[in-house]
Amino acid sequence: MTGPAFTPRVFSGIQPSGGLTLGNYLGALKRFVEMQNDASHECVFCLVDLHAITVWQDPKALAQQTREAAAGFMAAGIDPAQSILFNQSQVAAHAELAWLFNCVARMGWMGRMTQWKDKSGKNTENASLGLFAYPALMAADILAYHATHVPVGEDQKQHLELTRDIATKFNHDFGVDFFPITEPVIDGPATRVMSLRDGTKKMSKSDPSDMSRINLSDDADTIAQKFRKARTDPEPLPETYGDLKDRPEARNLIDIYAALTGKSTDTVMSDVAGQGWGQFKPHLAEVAAETMAPITDEMNRLLGDPGEIDRILGEGSAKAREISEPIVARTRDIMGMISSG
Ligand code: TYM
Repeated sequence: MTGPAFTPRVFSGIQPSGGLTLGNYLGALKRFVEMQNDASHECVFCLVDLHAITVWQDPKALAQQTREAAAGFMAAGIDPAQSILFNQSQVAAHAELAWLFNCVARMGWMGRMTQWKDKSGKNTENASLGLFAYPALMAADILAYHATHVPVGEDQKQHLELTRDIATKFNHDFGVDFFPITEPVIDGPATRVMSLRDGTKKMSKSDPSDMSRINLSDDADTIAQKFRKARTDPEPLPETYGDLKDRPEARNLIDIYAALTGKSTDTVMSDVAGQGWGQFKPHLAEVAAETMAPITDEMNRLLGDPGEIDRILGEGSAKAREISEPIVARTRDIMGMISSG
């Protein structure tokens, strides 16, 4: 069966559940900007506040974090005149399509998600129902726009496979070719930036230790201190990237450096081979601070006018509704629901 040709459209989202990290920047934001600037895709970027509340969020902090994330997107280069930038809860199509998908997706699929297992931990009885259904809402985010490409970090791969499963099952159950089978876009040296304290854990905004991550809001001194204290092994840097196979902390710092400079990991290795950490870490910190400082400054400037951020998110939401409402209306129609409009 050859499906309809879907217009190339990028969708991606970030949870405003804390400040943005270098992992979000290198694994997601930086690549969103590249996709926006490669004019072949229409881009839709979303601050997924409905996902954030699957675990407890203080209401005042959530609003502030959402504005901070919006400012971070714009400071990193997302242009709201070129891309659609909005917060999820302003577009009811997401919650509505998520409900329809809750009735397509299977409990077993959700139970196998590693994020569900990690976040619910040993106390699944007390986890929110929303946390369990999280991936159906994520599928709704993507499919409400008939998005064809979704740039994400490595940790979202399983959720994107589930999005494809939901689209496939819907199309099959209702005998239609209505939802696209979305392509995950997971590439570059920084699809999984690791914690600076533990090379086996990903860098995360929810890690209790602030020293484990670089925040988009950190100043140059803080960045330098965090890289100086980053956990490493005692060996100097080897000749080839392959030699870092069993050295996760060292490999992570090389990956970060490669992603920041846009150099291949092979080129980086030939530049730094033989260096000790005392030489490499300050250099890495300098490169990171140079890249991040203009973004942090611009983010803080934008945050000085929260009304303007809210206005931009409102405008983005209106554009997002224009695309998603007809798609969700058609979904209802396919499922046999009567509409009077
Ligand atoms: P979230 O908010 O955890 O992360 C946002 C994006 O940043 C990437 N990322 C990383 N990349 C590399 N290294 C890291 N340490 C790192 N930490 C985070 C994530 O892979 C992601 O691309 N469920 C999603 C949000 C979401 C979404 C969507 C994404 C909701 N709906 C629809 C794409 C499409 C999440 O929690 O991302």
